[in-house]
Amino acid sequence: MLVQTITPNTTYEFAADVDAGLNKPGQKELLSKYLYDEVGSALFEVICHLPEYGLTRADERLLRRHSHDIVERLATPVSVAELGSGSGRKTRHLLEALCRRQRTAYYPIEISPSALAMCERELRDIESISILGFEREYLDGLLEVAAHRSTGQHLLVLFLGSTIGNFDRPAGTKFLTEVRRILQPGDSLLLGTDLEKSSAQLLAAYDDELGVTAAFNLNLLARINRELDADFVLSQFEHVSRINHEARSVEMHLRSLCRQTVQVPAAELRVDFIEGETIWTESSHKYSREEIFPMAHTAGFRCEAQWIDDQWPFAENLLIAE
Ligand SMILES: C[S@@+](CC[C@H](N)C(=O)[O-])C[C@H]1O[C@@H](n2cnc3c(N)ncnc32)[C@H](O)[C@@H]1O
Repeated sequence: MLVQTITPNTTYEFAADVDAGLNKPGQKELLSKYLYDEVGSALFEVICHLPEYGLTRADERLLRRHSHDIVERLATPVSVAELGSGSGRKTRHLLEALCRRQRTAYYPIEISPSALAMCERELRDIESISILGFEREYLDGLLEVAAHRSTGQHLLVLFLGSTIGNFDRPAGTKFLTEVRRILQPGDSLLLGTDLEKSSAQLLAAYDDELGVTAAFNLNLLARINRELDADFVLSQFEHVSRINHEARSVEMHLRSLCRQTVQVPAAELRVDFIEGETIWTESSHKYSREEIFPMAHTAGFRCEAQWIDDQWPFAENLLIAE
């Protein structure tokens, strides 16, 4: 696989974002995209296999069962761009169905180089596929893919696994609107959305018994130590998952277990924590199946079809650009 990379300012940007997030008045915050370095991407793969985290298996079941139907509904010829592909394991079902019909160009767009490499290893044996990976932010990568499309070629954008849930509701709709602006009428977006479920089920999914999600979350501090020379003592923080009923989301935080001061030399930052104070690291918003229709409409799409898993409340939504 060829991979297009631009990385010159990443350490500088990481330091600036850490500085801004830890200096935020009120709730300290770190952006969830930084959870995915090499260790974080590997831990996320393990999370997808945990009994408590049914989301990935639901997504995969729907793709396995309905790929043929999804492909039948697409305008052709079509290329595929995937936003935040991760390992791409589930995407195989759809790509195989598509490749049975036509030669297919697949463009995974990822900020994690190790996830991109996993994705290539996972999917390169599919017959009639060509893979070109973009080590980019979602919209930057999609703009490049769209700029290189040939006349008459349609695009199918994949945003699977409910990564849309990392945005709050208004930001999620804005993001879909930006995706729509890059597309042409008749292009499509296959959107995964995790649906509302009991608090107990959600808390377990984001705080598993083995402690893998805790390690995934704490790795963000370890990454700041590795890349920005900081001195976070990991044993002085703990992983917390909590429900935000108003936002209809589950949040991950890192709670300081004592009063402490941390230095982050590469960000010229010294930050104080009081005991019990948290850093907010991720939100996962949960949806009702009905709200996907107006959200798609506001963003300039029509929801053509929706498939719901019968074991774990999760919806796969096929949106067509109007
Ligand atoms: C929750 S994981 C989902 C992975 C996969 N789509 C799945 O469903 O299992 C989110 C993925 O998006 C990537 N990612 C996060 N923020 C990103 C951004 N701003 N631009 C590009 N990729 C991003 C991460 O590296 C990670 O692999």
